[in-house]
Amino acid sequence: MNTYARLPVTFVKGKGVWLWDDQDKRYLDALAGIAVCGLGHCHPKFVKAISEQAGMLIHTSNLYHIDKQEKLANKLAVLSGMNKAFFCNSGAEANETAIKLARLYGHNKGIDLPTIIVMEQSFHGRTMATLTATGCRKVQAGFEPLLAGFARVPFNDLEAITQVAVHNKNVVAILVEPYQGEGGINVPQVDYLKDLRQICDENDWLLMLDEVQCGIGRSGKWFAFQHSGIVPDVMTLAKGLGSGVPIGACLAGNMAEEVFKPGNHASTFGGNPLACTAAITTLDIIEEENLMSNAMEQGDFIRKTFQTQLGNMEGVMQIRGQGLMIGIELSKPCGNLVKDALKQGLLINVTLDKVVRLLPPLVIKRSEAEQIVNIVSTLIKEF
Ligand SMILES: Cc1ncc(COP(=O)(O)O)c(C=O)c1O
Repeated sequence: MNTYARLPVTFVKGKGVWLWDDQDKRYLDALAGIAVCGLGHCHPKFVKAISEQAGMLIHTSNLYHIDKQEKLANKLAVLSGMNKAFFCNSGAEANETAIKLARLYGHNKGIDLPTIIVMEQSFHGRTMATLTATGCRKVQAGFEPLLAGFARVPFNDLEAITQVAVHNKNVVAILVEPYQGEGGINVPQVDYLKDLRQICDENDWLLMLDEVQCGIGRSGKWFAFQHSGIVPDVMTLAKGLGSGVPIGACLAGNMAEEVFKPGNHASTFGGNPLACTAAITTLDIIEEENLMSNAMEQGDFIRKTFQTQLGNMEGVMQIRGQGLMIGIELSKPCGNLVKDALKQGLLINVTLDKVVRLLPPLVIKRSEAEQIVNIVSTLIKEF
């Protein structure tokens, strides 16, 4: 179907941060399959692990115990401080799980029309519930009627949430990205999540974090919420979790962990042995190779160098981000930069029309980070 406006390039091979097209031209991948390939392309240990698992057992069913799924759930619980996990295949499905969980939590409390607070400029997926939760008209237009049960407030605005708390007694949860990705790499004020945690505690609401883009080491910690010293009730993951093998997860703790009972939710493929091996190996490699501190270090370097090169330039509004989630907001639409960069052998992205977005692999080296900064700075100066 005609759902993608594809760029005129076909990649056939990858290694580390590099991709090769079918003409054998090499590209530096500063997008990592949109925050998926944190280990870079075809990491040898990862390829070996999934190859061995594929040779042993790929899929059974959630009708049976799956040892790799239990191992992954335990590992994620240790890393996050949360207690339960449900596995699916994508970010949208992980968020569907969270939305269903919040609604059931509300019904269990006697709230017949549960409402979830969501943010402007958020992105949560393309299914009917997740596009309703998404704060972008472009994503919703043409798919009405949207679902009931969502209240929208500006991102990073506690007063707006307090107002909803006063006027809407049906609220059961807040769903928020700790750092907004598709919405333009938006980083909230330092205590935002802490304050949201407090509001949720005071009102008996679930704090549900969408870490599909910012999670799995990209922010410089396993999960973005770990920069705030809080623990959410629900967290969703996907993208970087399986390094390209599709897997999503919805984790739950506190009041959220006992909400689902057998029969409430399910997935045929979710958490099969192959996908869970991919995720376990991804987490192991991130740990062994200190990729979170690398994400922090290279991300700081990239942002600082952009600041030096572009900070005072007219037309550059802001350089922002956290770890290896980097955004450069320009004063005018700049989608053409993607094609210009491609010609120079660099993969970047533009989101919200005006924000150059970089999500390089967590394995990126300083010399590669320098190349990204040099090419992007030159392109923006010439734009
Ligand atoms: C924060 C966030 N949530 C959810 C999604 C949807 O994930 P998927 O495309 O795997 O359904 C995305 C995808 O970009 C995302 O960035």
